[in-house]
Amino acid sequence: MTPYEVINPQDLYDMIDHFYYLVEKDNRINHLFPGDFAETSRKQKQFLTQFLGGPSLYTEEHGHPMLRQRHLPFRITDKERDAWLENMREAITSSQLNEDVQEYLYERLKLTANHMVNA
Ligand code: HEM
Repeated sequence: MTPYEVINPQDLYDMIDHFYYLVEKDNRINHLFPGDFAETSRKQKQFLTQFLGGPSLYTEEHGHPMLRQRHLPFRITDKERDAWLENMREAITSSQLNEDVQEYLYERLKLTANHMVNA
């Protein structure tokens, strides 16, 4: 049983759209993003689907995630990481995802976010 099996994928998608809505308004990190969040959000939906044990949508289209490498063009210090995680926590806790999945997803994303710090 994977977390993906117990969620409604639409709840995950709504959470991710909400997350980028929050990021777009966050002057601590919004300058890092390309301006049109639709494509970023689409990729994140693919990634988090496989992160939760669902189909490998991200890898099928883009290859191995190599997230740390893909984030090297952006200067990410503890501050950017914290801002990213704060928005993610807000998006997750206000989502319709069940509470166990919320907890699991946030705890795992904290580890991944630490791994993205590159400056
Ligand atoms: C892009 C995931 C942390 C900034 C992406 C992409 C994914 C992703 C899947 C799309 C990569 C691609 O182009 O195919 C994650 C995960 C994170 C994380 C799972 C931590 C758990 C961060 C942090 C920042 C950040 C801390 C800085 C605030 C960006 C930027 C892009 C990006 C600027 C490029 C957007 C674009 O070109 O569309 N991230 N990320 N990410 N991420 Fe992250």
